[in-house]
Amino acid sequence: MKKIQILDKTFVPFISQEEIESVIERVAKEIEADNKGKRPLFLVVLNGAFMFAAQLFKTFQDPCEIQFVKYTSYQGTESTNEIKKLIGLPEGLAGRDVIIVEDIIDTGLSMKVLCDDLKKEKVNSIKIATMLFKPNSFRYDYKIDYIGKEIGNDFIVGYGLDYDFYGRNMPEILVVE
Ligand code: IMP
Ligand code: MG
Repeated sequence: MKKIQILDKTFVPFISQEEIESVIERVAKEIEADNKGKRPLFLVVLNGAFMFAAQLFKTFQDPCEIQFVKYTSYQGTESTNEIKKLIGLPEGLAGRDVIIVEDIIDTGLSMKVLCDDLKKEKVNSIKIATMLFKPNSFRYDYKIDYIGKEIGNDFIVGYGLDYDFYGRNMPEILVVE
């Protein structure tokens, strides 16, 4: 089997490019069907969601606005409790139907912090779309509206996700061996 070394860890194939892209196409169609006529404002969470978002918007073709935020919590393979806001919320959120686009929800803390901030902006609605979800790690009880795929707690890289800044450019998802 193919093995890829990143720093001190070895990764093996987990979700192929073909599979992840068909999952993303399904999510895009769900979002489209659910949000007709709303002109949603997508809030893409950098850095990890860049590749998911790029693929999502090749299928999602309704009128929408796309903005970016950068909230970070991760160091190495452990989620930390500290969230840094490197690019904050955009202007003009009041009254908007916001759809957050995230790479992966693990403990759920970073998404909770972002949602709490959004609620202060008097948005009309907040929905969450995540490419991947680790249900066994999730510590909150808010609703996740669109989930690409549920996975176990193993650490993964690729398709935008990194291990200490490396591996984001891989077109498939790999799991630590
Ligand atoms: P949470 O706050 O614990 O939900 O962590 C969410 C963030 O941690 C995600 O947006 C990712 O950027 C990162 N993350 C969580 N799990 C993984 C993983 O398996 N590989 C790479 N990054 C991850
Ligand atoms: Mg992320």
